[in-house]
Amino acid sequence: MNLYKEIVRPFLFLADPEAVHHFAMDSLALFGPLLHRFAPVSDPRLARSVFGLRFPNPVGLAAGFDKNGVALPAWQGLGFGFAEIGTITARAQPGNPKPRIFRVPESRALINRLGFNNDGCDAVAARLQRLRETTQWPSIPVGINLGKSKVTPLTEATADYLLSFERLQHFGDYFVLNVSSPNTPGLRNLQDGPALDELLGHIQRRNTAGKPVVLKIAPDLEWAAIEEILALTEEHKLAGIIATNTTIDHSSVAAEHRTQGGLSGAPLRARATEVVRFIAQRSKAPVIAVGGIMSADDALEKFDAGAALVQLYTGYIYEGPGLIGKICRALLQRG
Ligand code: FNR
Repeated sequence: MNLYKEIVRPFLFLADPEAVHHFAMDSLALFGPLLHRFAPVSDPRLARSVFGLRFPNPVGLAAGFDKNGVALPAWQGLGFGFAEIGTITARAQPGNPKPRIFRVPESRALINRLGFNNDGCDAVAARLQRLRETTQWPSIPVGINLGKSKVTPLTEATADYLLSFERLQHFGDYFVLNVSSPNTPGLRNLQDGPALDELLGHIQRRNTAGKPVVLKIAPDLEWAAIEEILALTEEHKLAGIIATNTTIDHSSVAAEHRTQGGLSGAPLRARATEVVRFIAQRSKAPVIAVGGIMSADDALEKFDAGAALVQLYTGYIYEGPGLIGKICRALLQRG
């Protein structure tokens, strides 16, 4: 019997998705430090070395789950090989009006239009500093995902990213420039040549510690646009690419469920894999694959497409913490 899917999930799915999320985050923040007692699959054969960092296993928590870095000790205890916090913006912001997360259970999907609700870079930096002063700082790599504050005009986006990058630079093992959320107006225009060139150039000039910086892209880009992005990431010596964010293509879900926001989960799987394969065939930079990993086979599909690491979000909601162990065991079985 699957305890999560048969007992826990039906109960959680009775409530509003965002309320459940807050409940889960509060519980994990409180009990996270105790979770090492349930230490899941640990095997040196699962370890990966990617952009100079050592990952105890290649399955990570995707951005958006722990936006404010409140439960960092928990992610390692639950078995993740790395955790990405954020998206964090320079200024604290409330995000879009609620409701803003919607389940589509028959498609094993979610649609969200949260809009980067987060505490802002100063508050998160203070929280991370406090955690650093304890023994609770995780030994898995911690990624910090950065976005643009909604009030900042697009023309001033670079300065906005630089502010949060400088404030948080000391705390992350790697950094993600998120230019692909569909829920901040205009954000995805930063994937276009000149704007991206400016952003990457400035960030890397300020990256005095030489931290790995990666770019997270949307699944809705044309191939030519992805090729242009790859040229720029190479020119600016980015460490890798995260593919992909949520999609604005809702054609795969029933019409009554379509609502403004980004679609994630099973319907995104095939497109995300296609994008990962396209990048892996053209670039030496490692790809972190995310999008529609709902089973161990889905994760293997991403590795077969060329992914160096994978991340989970919607699959974690639908399948529960057991999914990490299933993926790790499938990798070990394949040898
Ligand atoms: C996300 N995602 C996301 N990505 C990001 O870079 N910054 C963010 O703040 C968020 N926030 C967020 C909230 C919610 C509710 C969801 C469902 C997703 C996108 C996420 O990290 C991932 O890229 C996509 O969800 C695709 O993966 P899955 O969910 O299909 O495994």
